[in-house]
Amino acid sequence: MTKILAILYDGGKHAEEQPKLLGTTENALGLKDWAKEKGFEFIVTSDKEGPNSEFQKHIVDADILITTPFHPGYLTKDLIDKAKNLKLAVTAGVGSDHIDLNAANTKKITVAEVTGSNVVSVAEHVIMTILLLVRNYNVGHTQVVNKEWDVAGIAKNAYDLEGKVVGTLGCGRIGYRVLERLVPFDCKELLYYDYQNLPAEAEKKVNARRVEDLKEFLGQCDIVTINAPLHEGTKGLIDKEKLSWMKKGAWLVNTARGAICVAEDVAEALNSGQLAGAGGDVWNVQPAPKDHCWRSMKHPSGDGNGYVPHYSGTTLDAQIRYANGTKKIIENFLEGKEQNPADMIVENGEYATKAYGVRVQPNLN
Ligand code: NAI
Repeated sequence: MTKILAILYDGGKHAEEQPKLLGTTENALGLKDWAKEKGFEFIVTSDKEGPNSEFQKHIVDADILITTPFHPGYLTKDLIDKAKNLKLAVTAGVGSDHIDLNAANTKKITVAEVTGSNVVSVAEHVIMTILLLVRNYNVGHTQVVNKEWDVAGIAKNAYDLEGKVVGTLGCGRIGYRVLERLVPFDCKELLYYDYQNLPAEAEKKVNARRVEDLKEFLGQCDIVTINAPLHEGTKGLIDKEKLSWMKKGAWLVNTARGAICVAEDVAEALNSGQLAGAGGDVWNVQPAPKDHCWRSMKHPSGDGNGYVPHYSGTTLDAQIRYANGTKKIIENFLEGKEQNPADMIVENGEYATKAYGVRVQPNLN
């Protein structure tokens, strides 16, 4: 009997209220009936930490693992060694950095994600976060809630997006969609830093310029949005030194992966005013601990903190797409059908994508 193990987040009363919350343990990606019909053993849990967790108990004989970046079940090398039957690990969403991809390669475990399923969801969130930081939205909203009215207190750190230089670090599906959405804002310039060139036509369409040197890229941007996967070449990339390469008073938005930034260094940069704003939805540990420095960091002028829990890619619209995509990948796998090549991260002991790829040009960072 095929055993499928899914590590998802708990929805509680919200999942009852909203059946479209498919990414929860309660609604199980809408796969419960299907799994029953097919005669699969289907274990769904959110209990993922430590040796006594359901995750560690069931990974030992699971054939297929479903995880989600929003409540990541970390598939470490140790667990891969214990997972005797594991053949396929599907990420319900985009971003498989919570899986030790090198170890999966060695064991010839296929790793797949539902490519593209939530890229618009994230790109919209990036635009929202850029706007709320640049326009100092939080300070204004807090005044409303606190029954205050102090226009100057908001305006002293509020700007227009028009006329600013915006750059995306990583210009794949999300990064490019961010640039597309920025075009009508008449920014001064749109830049990108990526080891892969955009096709000339795509570059022309958004009038973007590639900057190949990271220091030059960071030094030219008023706003930096991070849209590269987490891998050996991006882990801890944005640290104290890189933050000092940014313009004083620049804004930083990270919706890619929390560990691309050194948490304490970003907090220090915002607290000191080196950054005017920092926002995003991805954290180096998820769920983030109560005392995480990003919860309390603040620009000296009042706020500048645009952080929320990891949800940009799990809107209700995105959930149906990644739920359907997860099912399709599993069906294809079990029926020996061809997969959508874009969904494949690791296959037959090799990287099937260049996106996790310092291996392509290891000297960039
Ligand atoms: P993609 O694979 O289409 O694009 C990633 C781009 O990053 C590629 O062009 C790649 O060449 C580039 N890149 C990789 N390493 C780089 C480096 N060291 N420096 C500069 N560029 C580099 O991926 P997509 O769909 O755009 O997603 C990007 C990431 O966004 C995902 O890997 C995931 O971590 C994150 N994400 C976050 C979500 C959220 O809810 N916050 C939801 C979906 C994705």
